[in-house]
Amino acid sequence: MYENPRLILDSSNPPEPGSFTWRSPSNIAIIKYWGKYGLQLPRNPSLSLTLAASCTDTQLEYEMREDDSGGPIDLEFYFHQEENEAFRAKIVAFLESLTPVFPFLKQLKLTVHTGNSFPHSAGIASSASAMSALALCLCSLEDALFGTLREPADFDRKASWLARLGSGSACRSIFPHAAVWGETAVVQGSSNEYAVPVGDLIHEKFRDFHDDILIVSSEEKAVSSRAGHALMEGNPFAEARYAQARQRLGVLFDAMRAGDLETFGRIAEDEALTLHALMMCSNPSYVLLQPNSLAIIEKVREYRAETGHPVYFTLDAGPNIHLLYPGEIIHEVRAFIGDELAEFCENGYVQQDWVGEGPEEM
Ligand code: DP6
Repeated sequence: MYENPRLILDSSNPPEPGSFTWRSPSNIAIIKYWGKYGLQLPRNPSLSLTLAASCTDTQLEYEMREDDSGGPIDLEFYFHQEENEAFRAKIVAFLESLTPVFPFLKQLKLTVHTGNSFPHSAGIASSASAMSALALCLCSLEDALFGTLREPADFDRKASWLARLGSGSACRSIFPHAAVWGETAVVQGSSNEYAVPVGDLIHEKFRDFHDDILIVSSEEKAVSSRAGHALMEGNPFAEARYAQARQRLGVLFDAMRAGDLETFGRIAEDEALTLHALMMCSNPSYVLLQPNSLAIIEKVREYRAETGHPVYFTLDAGPNIHLLYPGEIIHEVRAFIGDELAEFCENGYVQQDWVGEGPEEM
């Protein structure tokens, strides 16, 4: 979609060396993306809230290469100030795959410094924040060298498209408050190729929402999301699941526009449990919920029944519980977490997060 052979630098007039830094957040899906085809295209549309505290900072430095005749990508890569060969190899492969889009990448010597705002061991997925931060740096680079992404909407769309190629869910992190990725009749302009912002369309209650992440286990996931998506191919419930997600997105979106917390919460919880049910009935099957995840789910439901407070849970493909609630009950919910839920978390660890304004250039 964005292949452009004209994005080539004139080696007789090389650009000055420079750098860009972006801070980009993670996001939490309410309607889950689970199942993909082709080049990172989703089997169903998804909707997420953009987070604020769980971020990746990425700096991309560039200078013209002495020999710019198109050898392999030249990248130095540092994660938390240390060279990391495994991550470097992944990023090099990603950048190589992007050379039809950014032919100039092979003319540059690149250095990436990246790091997360949350502890690496927290068990929080970082691919969304990491790939969106890198995509934003690449768009800044293109714009600095060629002036081709001056329009903010064009810039964001291309960044979202690139982020998607790195990791599907990352395409939703580009936008403030909330985003939808995947074609759906209920969001004009929605696409399988990139996410679109919906933060301005939802009720203000959801722009002041919290997501406290209860870290049940920080262990590396037993199944990578790539393998998880692939398992949907043989799953006997796959088609029914995709139809359900399409239908639910419409119901959820209406509820979010109206500020209907109850419908939001019912769908959020049902989506989380459906995701895990799909993993449990895949072949091979995965049970990623742990006893403490279930204990927290029980407690949340009891607390809601007793207090009437709109506190809901969701999960991604792991055992950690995301507690979703509006800002107006933060004191009550934080007390509930401290008194009744922290004991189920690894070392009592809770990563506090909330709906944020999206990425920031530093
Ligand atoms: C359960 O975006 O991590 O968090 O495209 O293979 O990188 P890849 O997968 P990824 O999958 C995220 C799955 C999920 C649901 C979601 O975020 O929508």
